Amino acid sequence: MSTVLVTGGSGFVGIHVILQLLAAGHTVRTTVRRPERQADVLAMLREGGAASPESLAFFTADLTRDDGWQKAVTGCDYVLHVASPLSTSVPKDENEMIIPARD
Ligand SMILES: NC(=O)c1ccc[n+]([C@@H]2O[C@H](COP(=O)([O-])OP(=O)(O)OC[C@H]3O[C@@H](n4cnc5c(N)ncnc54)[C@H](OP(=O)(O)O)[C@@H]3O)[C@@H](O)[C@H]2O)c1
Repeated sequence: MSTVLVTGGSGFVGIHVILQLLAAGHTVRTTVRRPERQADVLAMLREGGAASPESLAFFTADLTRDDGWQKAVTGCDYVLHVASPLSTSVPKDENEMIIPARD
């Protein structure tokens, strides 16, 4: 089994990815921008039928800052980079979305 980091565990796709990884027996980590989102993520995982959501490890990291990412990825076999800043309006330039996600 692998250790996998899923970025954006509080998001729609992130939650589903985490559910699949936990069900397959992997060691799973996720990032949230704000630690207070952990309770929401755990509630969503329970709602989704996760057998042991408390085995998920949380790391705080924001794509617009470097802090926290090194700690989150160290020791991981894989990173599933699901988090992405999504604007409520159509961006004027595609790089407004691409650069934060890529960096
Ligand atoms: N849903 C779909 O049907 C679908 C289809 C095709 C592609 N996608 C793509 O899949 C990705 C995820 O979609 P989704 O539907 O899961 O979106 P979502 O529910 O809005 O989740 C986005 C996730 O990214 C996190 N995030 C946003 N800005 C961030 C930042 N600056 N730093 C760190 N994390 C940040 C959010 O955290 P917070 O909770 O803190 O906001 C959340 O966990 C997007 O790129 C989307 O375009 C989605």
